[in-house]
Amino acid sequence: MKVAVFSTKSYDQKYFEKHAGMHNHKFSFFETALKKDTVGLTEGFNCVCAFVNDQIDKVVMQALAKNGIKLIALRCAGYNNVDLKAAKKNGITIVRVPAYSPEAVAEHALALILTLNRKTHKAYNRVREGNFSLNNLIGFNLSGKTVGVIGTGKIGAKCSRILVGFGCRVIAFDIIKSKELIDLGVEYLPLDEVFKEADILSLHCPLNQDTKHMINGRSIGLMKNGVMIINTSRGALIDTVDVIKGLTEKKVGFLGIDVYEQEENLFFEDLSEHIIQDDLILRLNSFPNVLITSHQAYFTTEAMDEITTTTLENITAFEKNNELKNEIK
Ligand code: NAI
Repeated sequence: MKVAVFSTKSYDQKYFEKHAGMHNHKFSFFETALKKDTVGLTEGFNCVCAFVNDQIDKVVMQALAKNGIKLIALRCAGYNNVDLKAAKKNGITIVRVPAYSPEAVAEHALALILTLNRKTHKAYNRVREGNFSLNNLIGFNLSGKTVGVIGTGKIGAKCSRILVGFGCRVIAFDIIKSKELIDLGVEYLPLDEVFKEADILSLHCPLNQDTKHMINGRSIGLMKNGVMIINTSRGALIDTVDVIKGLTEKKVGFLGIDVYEQEENLFFEDLSEHIIQDDLILRLNSFPNVLITSHQAYFTTEAMDEITTTTLENITAFEKNNELKNEIK
């Protein structure tokens, strides 16, 4: 197929080139995101390969259909950025990569927890400047703490296992309970109880109407003073204004985020020579107890291999009219 690959960096291209040999597709790589202003680039292609921050709404979907696009191959698991109704209406099939190294994301959540707690990012800078003082570097033992995992699917389950290994009490909320995790000692509780009891909260549920802004003024009000909130799932699970208020009032003790509500205007780009116009991220960055990474939780060699091979297999299956096991319906 003729595939227009959007939101690509040199590392994406490298992995496509590594795995493309087995397949017979022609790729054009665009650095720009797919959105209303760039959808014109898809003329002459029959497949689009998109990523987490490409905005495939109704208008874009109509334009894609008009340009002859038959397939959108998402190289990610989440699809909250795609208008599925519009896809159906316009006869466009959507496939995704449902699972790629859930360990990568779970391990990154742990990296955020451990870094915020033990302040290794600050110690690294200090020691390099000849400052060997321990002032303000004190942390706490993770062992024995209660961690609330919200969403115990593939990533939440891996995270729970790691936390049990650290000696934590893991409490969880999910609309579906996992017997395997219950056998491991994970306790499922109502959502508000998880908010109330957790020393650390780690979010691993998808973004949808039920979960949007689940971390808000009300839920923060239920939490322990000094709670640590970790979000490696989707930015809009957290109401950014409310969490900033929680941090300012010292109710929220730590915030570690790999995703951010308005990330599509910032993440994956080097903006170090630009004036950043997003006042909320600047405010978040000003807190000493906030750690932000720019959607890198998935970014391991294992995950990149899996994302690329599954995407290529999805496109080939569509081309050959084979069963589409990763279709979003
Ligand atoms: P999954 O589909 O295996 O698990 C999601 C879990 O959330 C399921 O068990 C589901 O029952 C549960 N859930 C659904 N609605 C819920 C609700 N209202 N409250 C609580 N739980 C609910 O998905 P997976 O692979 O574990 O991914 C989780 C999320 O992680 C994805 O939705 C995606 O947004 C994010 N993600 C982030 C990445 C990153 O690089 N930061 C990379 C990959 C995924």
